[in-house]
Amino acid sequence: MHQQEADFSYRLWRHDGAQGELIPLLQSAQEHFGYIPRRAIRYISGVTKVPESKIYGVITFYSQFRLQPMGKHAIRLCTGTACHVANASMLLDVIEDEIGTEVDGTSEDGVFTLFSVACIGCCSLAPVMMVDDETHGSLTPVTTRRIVRKVRRTTLAGEKAAAKKAEEEAAAPSAG
Ligand code: FES
Repeated sequence: MHQQEADFSYRLWRHDGAQGELIPLLQSAQEHFGYIPRRAIRYISGVTKVPESKIYGVITFYSQFRLQPMGKHAIRLCTGTACHVANASMLLDVIEDEIGTEVDGTSEDGVFTLFSVACIGCCSLAPVMMVDDETHGSLTPVTTRRIVRKVRRTTLAGEKAAAKKAEEEAAAPSAG
């Protein structure tokens, strides 16, 4: 059993069955897995006797919980007032179209998770987005698409190179 899963099971084992513990258990699952996988929901339902459908309802109600793993890169598009006035909603459409998922979702290739955030403090550069720790300002649909594509290209190329290297290492005769 994976260590994170073992820790999580331990917490479940210690759980006394009180339904009020649902939120802490969900927090614990998210802390261990980075999101709340389906199997964790099954475990929690079994222990708390709260139906899975109700647990899904709780998860979707609280924005702190995620049903999908995080992508390798977080895009945070500012939708604060200055950015909103500078057409951030159009950029949101562009990003959603480019990565194929909506706000709070992770792209199918696992490269991006998209967030819509309040003012990030550089309104003079509106509209603004952050990709991980890097801020990009004065965005247009064209520059936004270009940035997203570049990050995706670099990420996928890096993954490919790493996979190739691992393959070569596995195929190489061991020394000695
Ligand atoms: S409103 Fe977007 S940076 Fe301030």
